[in-house]
Amino acid sequence: MSRQPLVLGIETSCDETGVGIVRGEELLVDAIASSVDEHARFGGVVPEVASRAHLEAMVPTIERACREAGVRLDDLDAVAVTSGPGLAGALMVGVASAKALAVALGKPLYGVNHLAAHVAVDIVEHGPLPEPTLAMLVSGGHSSLLLVPDITSDVRSLGATIDDAAGEAFDKVARVLGLPFPGGPHIDRASEAGHVTIDFPRGLTGGRDMQRHRFDFSFSGLKTAVSRWVETERATGRAVPVADVAASFQEAVVDVLTRKAVLACKEHDVAALQIGGGVAANRRLRAMAQERCDAAGIQLRVPRPGLCTDNGAMVASLGAQMVLKGRAPSDLALAADSSMLVTDVQAL
Ligand code: KG4
Ligand code: ZN
Repeated sequence: MSRQPLVLGIETSCDETGVGIVRGEELLVDAIASSVDEHARFGGVVPEVASRAHLEAMVPTIERACREAGVRLDDLDAVAVTSGPGLAGALMVGVASAKALAVALGKPLYGVNHLAAHVAVDIVEHGPLPEPTLAMLVSGGHSSLLLVPDITSDVRSLGATIDDAAGEAFDKVARVLGLPFPGGPHIDRASEAGHVTIDFPRGLTGGRDMQRHRFDFSFSGLKTAVSRWVETERATGRAVPVADVAASFQEAVVDVLTRKAVLACKEHDVAALQIGGGVAANRRLRAMAQERCDAAGIQLRVPRPGLCTDNGAMVASLGAQMVLKGRAPSDLALAADSSMLVTDVQAL
């Protein structure tokens, strides 16, 4: 293809209805409608509420994206959509919409993996991904270390969480501290005023654990340790130092994440680390990752916070890479796959 492919991407795996449009490696628009406020009073995402919200937001968000990018649907070269993993009902809304668009327009359809898309979004921010790249995905649903020789076809899992995801730990600890959902940004902000005064446990970093679970994570022990610490403090009638607890908890998570990511780069001889997913918006994570990558001579790539959380641009970016690399489109019979493996970059 002589000119750069114009690709529209649809993301509906959780609570954000995202529609992004890219031209090759250039981001034209990233339109988002979020139902996060509707879930806040439940303290977590309610699948049925999310599906309903996607249905209502889909057409207006597609229209807004096209308007803001100055693109007509007819001009598109391909449509891409998150086919998994994620909430089944939410994914189905996106997949059905993308199929309808692709059929109506007579354009190829690419069903792509949500996690690979979190990695691919960095291309519109920092240019082509070095091959291989080491990617760390830290979100509300996932904490994974991935070796990525080719983002369109070859993603390998080095490790993942064996219990809670990193973002889930942020959300649960925020709840213990009386901070609103989703907790990550609130802990991030509260920590600014606090100090690391408590030495919380670093899961799976010691002796035998480190041998058996070298690149895996565990955050549930940390979450329990924070809860116990807070309960003990409350039982004695003292005011809980929220900012210090937040900072100490955050330090423990960020220490483990960056330590294992840098170790994985070194052991697999990879010169670039990319961090994605909602938790990559965390300021302490970005700072510590930068320090440790600089010390190890590793190039660090983290997209701006708005592109770290779920969005349509990431799906469009991965779709454009598939077109550029000449990958065959997905079958129109493609189905949403709520438990799609991270190693399946594309739904066939
Ligand atoms: O990638 P994402 O938008 O959705 C999922 O696919 O899960 O990630 C959402 C998660 C939530 O758990 C949220 O608390 C966390 O990312 N998060 C943060 C920050 N911003 C969002 N965690 C820590 N610090 C932040 N600044
Ligand atoms: Zn995500």
